[in-house]
Amino acid sequence: MSDSAGGSADRQVLVASNRGPVSFSRAEDGALSMRRGGGGLVSGLAGVAAKTEDDAGPEVVWVCAALSDADREAARRAPDGRLDKAGHDTGGAGVRMLDIPAPTFQRAYNAVANSMLWFVHHLLYDTPNAPHFDARSRRDWQSYEAYNAAFADALARDAAPGARTAIQDYHLSLAPRMLRERRPDLRIAHFSHTPWAPPEYYRLLPDDIGAQVLEGILGADHAGFLTERWADAFLDCCAAVLHAKVDRHARTVTHKGHVTRVGVHGLGVDGEELRARAAEPDVAARARALREQVGDRRLIVRIDRTELSKNIVRGLAAYRELLTKYPEWRGRVVHLAFAYPSRHDLPEYREYTAAVRRMAAEIVDEFGTPDWEPLILQVNDDYPRSLAAYGMADVLLVNPIRDGMNLVAKEGPVLSERGCALVLSREAGAAAELGEDALMVNPYDVSQTAEALRRALLMPPAERAERCARLADAATALPPQRWFADQLTALD
Ligand code: G6P
Repeated sequence: MSDSAGGSADRQVLVASNRGPVSFSRAEDGALSMRRGGGGLVSGLAGVAAKTEDDAGPEVVWVCAALSDADREAARRAPDGRLDKAGHDTGGAGVRMLDIPAPTFQRAYNAVANSMLWFVHHLLYDTPNAPHFDARSRRDWQSYEAYNAAFADALARDAAPGARTAIQDYHLSLAPRMLRERRPDLRIAHFSHTPWAPPEYYRLLPDDIGAQVLEGILGADHAGFLTERWADAFLDCCAAVLHAKVDRHARTVTHKGHVTRVGVHGLGVDGEELRARAAEPDVAARARALREQVGDRRLIVRIDRTELSKNIVRGLAAYRELLTKYPEWRGRVVHLAFAYPSRHDLPEYREYTAAVRRMAAEIVDEFGTPDWEPLILQVNDDYPRSLAAYGMADVLLVNPIRDGMNLVAKEGPVLSERGCALVLSREAGAAAELGEDALMVNPYDVSQTAEALRRALLMPPAERAERCARLADAATALPPQRWFADQLTALD
């Protein structure tokens, strides 16, 4: 234990996540340049770190992994891995970037976190893609243990006595227990940003690994989830797999003498901040360019990482069915599909990106005319263009086969200028909060999704505007600062 972070128990908060608030890249002249990272978790925590500029806020030390060679170099150059102490603007938080050996990191991140655990929680294993856990998986698992131990070591070293620690997501499911073993004085929270699998599906994992993941999280005093559904599934797994004592009413799990409280903390968007960002000139410029491209046609928009769980291919199939079944929409509507590459070290993701491109090309071939481009697929990540598209959308399509929350479904209505209709998968965590005003679909049912798109296009403008305003209210009810503060309160 050290006082290197210099915080007191009540004022200091440690955050641990795989992806941190900043990332580095190397310019052509070899210099390192820093930029803000992406992903729902980063936007969730960024507001909390910014709050530290205000003296009343907690002192945040954020521990994250170096994700690339450029990150590793920046971490190595910073004194003790502390980027803020190397003069980088980390938005008010202390940031320690862990230089974990690349092979260990790759196995922990790709093979365990983004394959084994992500696939299980998003129900992505199917018969042609059934799991096959072998000696190699055990080796990957050891890397995952080493990666989690590196976080537990760093947190144990940085934390003031009794400090609060908020460990994030499936990359770090073992860290809570490891940290408790090293520092029993700390107050430890874990938060899952993903869905949680029901026990009969969770049992696809090797028995020892499935049990270790649960026991790892149960090392925390408080385990948080985005919706009741995921929290209940976690409780079910604790009962079925560990035979732990589960009190479903009080939402507690008692295992090996330790009690973990399970909480539900929905995550929404900071409406004020989002609207301010969307009012910047780069967004207006993107909006003008898009408008020129699509004319006065109606717009169906989707924005995702190209991610198997986002169900982009079935979404495109639904658009094709709309144009096939209702030819009156041909020439009158454009589908803007922004699908930004993600996790391309994994073959499943590369293949999925290719499948999205193939399907998009088929639709353009089948329906396109010299003066109408039915579908515009954009794969280069451009945040201001995404914000511009939210503003212009008549319909926003969010159809994941399963999603912890989904912030696109929340950002869209907040930025909509025309009152967009939201077509939303019932399997997204956001459905629990937005279900009444969205048009809900079963994500596997392409025909139902096509009908919902049509209904959304036909919805009278007044009804659309009313629903959209209520969606925006619901989306901003739980801003990230509040989401995080609730978790800290739960530790008190
Ligand atoms: C999900 C996870 C986050 C992750 C994000 C982006 O939202 O819950 O932990 O950071 O996806 O994924 P990536 O693998 O690019 O960090």
